Amino acid sequence: MTPTRDVQSIRDAFSAAGQDHLFTFWDDLNSDQRDQLLADLAAIRLDALPDLLKIVADTASHATGGSIEPADVITRDDVTAEHRELGESLIRRGKVAPFTVAGGQGTRLGYDGPKGAFRMSPVRNKPLFQLFAESIRATESRYDCELTWYIMTSPINNAATASYFEDLGYFGLNPERVVFFQQGVMPSFANDGKILLAEKHRVALSPDGHGGSLLALAETGMLEDMADRGIDHISYFQVDNPLVYCIDPAFVGLHAASKSEMSSKCVSKADDFERVGNFAVVDGKLGVIEYSDLPEKLAKAKNADGSRKFDAGSIAIHVISRSFVERLTADRSKFGLPWHRANKKVGHVDTASGEVVDPSEPNAVKLEAFIFDALPLSKNPIVLEVDRSEEFSPVKNATGVDSVETSRRDMSRRAARWLKAAGAKIPCNSDGEPTPTCEVSPLAALEADDLKNRAPINIAADKDGCIYLDK
Ligand code: UD1
Repeated sequence: MTPTRDVQSIRDAFSAAGQDHLFTFWDDLNSDQRDQLLADLAAIRLDALPDLLKIVADTASHATGGSIEPADVITRDDVTAEHRELGESLIRRGKVAPFTVAGGQGTRLGYDGPKGAFRMSPVRNKPLFQLFAESIRATESRYDCELTWYIMTSPINNAATASYFEDLGYFGLNPERVVFFQQGVMPSFANDGKILLAEKHRVALSPDGHGGSLLALAETGMLEDMADRGIDHISYFQVDNPLVYCIDPAFVGLHAASKSEMSSKCVSKADDFERVGNFAVVDGKLGVIEYSDLPEKLAKAKNADGSRKFDAGSIAIHVISRSFVERLTADRSKFGLPWHRANKKVGHVDTASGEVVDPSEPNAVKLEAFIFDALPLSKNPIVLEVDRSEEFSPVKNATGVDSVETSRRDMSRRAARWLKAAGAKIPCNSDGEPTPTCEVSPLAALEADDLKNRAPINIAADKDGCIYLDK
């Protein structure tokens, strides 16, 4: 229990910052609840509060100013056999680690649990985490190496994620090489700048965005852990994309050969307003402008040949050098990516009435940092354009665009393509769409060529119209 004297000084500090209402219910709380409230308050950096409140109050739209030019993009054709060999040798020597950001709330999908536990694969219904785990196991056996998989969770899903892996035997991975760490949190603010209470003894806290991963890697000792294991390059991907190559040797090699501190993958955008970040050179520096911040005129701008000017859409896949994260976070008190504000619905306790409020409209401001805001701080950043149908089909929504249905469909299409290229007979309908639902285990193939190498493949649909290729 915190001594009364210390509680008073904490209370005075919050009071001086205009946040005394957080102690409204203090006298009604039992000792455990008081400890919990103090623990929540400890997550709030009061010295940073004045700057945060300015962002909370700033409702003007922030279309990026200054000069904005399209980013230079490297295509797969520019990637050489030497790049791939370099990447393969780095993987073989244990220099590369897969890193999944999985701390988000997954609100849009409406799934109550860690998003990585969502069952996605079209035939076997494998959860996202299993697909990644199998891909990592396959990479280990191909390169005869040991990989350490870093998974960033948040206080909202850390315990559930860790016990999920435990219950499922880490999907065959060595538990010592599956490392969970938690990202930081940020309070939610009412529009008047008051921090909200989720309960009488709980501050309304939520994950601080995937940009929080950089600081979290430093603060939780993960950078030292990586250094101890000899890991130099972090293969970063989001939990929501089942098509991702968890570690892409050619991309890793390109990153290393370019002496890039942070490399990114992009796809040609599906339409002018696709809801992806846009790679652009802003005031001379490579960065990403989120779709909601790209001025409409630029989103629609065309080159002389009619092609889209800002066409490089971010698929949130990066290779990040450990030394870059170390450089950025060397002085943690000074490091910070910009905060982005979002109006959200946040349930809370009204401190005036003590009533629980369950808003039907956005009533609060949340602040998040985005990983791609590290790009302008990096040396020699590069962007590699890849084939969307091979590497990107995220599951974000329950229905419609980027949904369970479209993502499963794209997994099946890719599997059918790989199988056909390896000589398998896959019946198609008049639109050229494969009629069986297809799935290839990552243990059978990490990329199309793996199947070509074991061709010919004779496989037929089962009674349910499904084809599954196991290892
Ligand atoms: C994101 C990118 C967008 C990109 C798209 C590709 C942002 C703001 N936008 O969109 O530029 O084109 O993906 O699919 O990121 N996460 C955390 N902690 C958090 C918040 C998120 O770990 O605090 C993780 C999630 O678990 C998820 C990933 O980050 O794996 C993406 O988060 P989400 O907020 O869903 O990003 P999008 O808006 O879909």
